[in-house]
Amino acid sequence: MSQAMADLFKRITCGVYVVGVAAGDRHNAFTAAWVMPVSFDPLLLALSINPRHSSYELLKRGGSFSVNVLSREQMDLAGHFGKPADADKLASVKWRKGRRGTPLLTEALAWFECDLIEDHPAGDHVLVLGRVIDGSLLKPDAEPLTYRETGDMDGAAAIFPDRFS
Ligand SMILES: Cc1cc2nc3c(=O)[nH]c(=O)nc-3n(C[C@H](O)[C@H](O)[C@H](O)COP(=O)(O)O)c2cc1C
Repeated sequence: MSQAMADLFKRITCGVYVVGVAAGDRHNAFTAAWVMPVSFDPLLLALSINPRHSSYELLKRGGSFSVNVLSREQMDLAGHFGKPADADKLASVKWRKGRRGTPLLTEALAWFECDLIEDHPAGDHVLVLGRVIDGSLLKPDAEPLTYRETGDMDGAAAIFPDRFS
């Protein structure tokens, strides 16, 4: 629909993250760019998820999520976790369970683990608010990957409307 609108929105600087979810013995992870810190005290993070993603059901059921920060060298991981979960997407990467059982990528630049405290419908997405319960900076000298650098990996140009309403 609109490459121009996608180019415009990609000037709002966003990083690229792998959001991990788990419930019972099931786990999954997906690439997300729409993630931001929203409060110092308590420490809160927000993310926006399309409720049609298979990760959404696990997020709601498990009540927790991880946010793994990707570095500029990890464009391949952004593509890998940006695809639907036909098979176990985590099988090909090194990861461990966080305190809440959510997937933490061993090779991430940094990670956070959050408890889901609220969620609100937000257009075609759901805004999820999480309280940060744990986190670690694994590669202090690495540069975070930015959403803009991923080009049209997420196919957003075909989704953005071509005009403002
Ligand atoms: C660079 C990039 C950024 C993305 N950002 C988001 C996002 O912020 N929120 C979202 O719901 N999906 C986002 N996606 C799409 C999901 O990663 C994708 O639909 C994925 O297949 C969902 O995985 P799942 O079906 O295993 O849950 C993004 C994809 C890419 C490649």
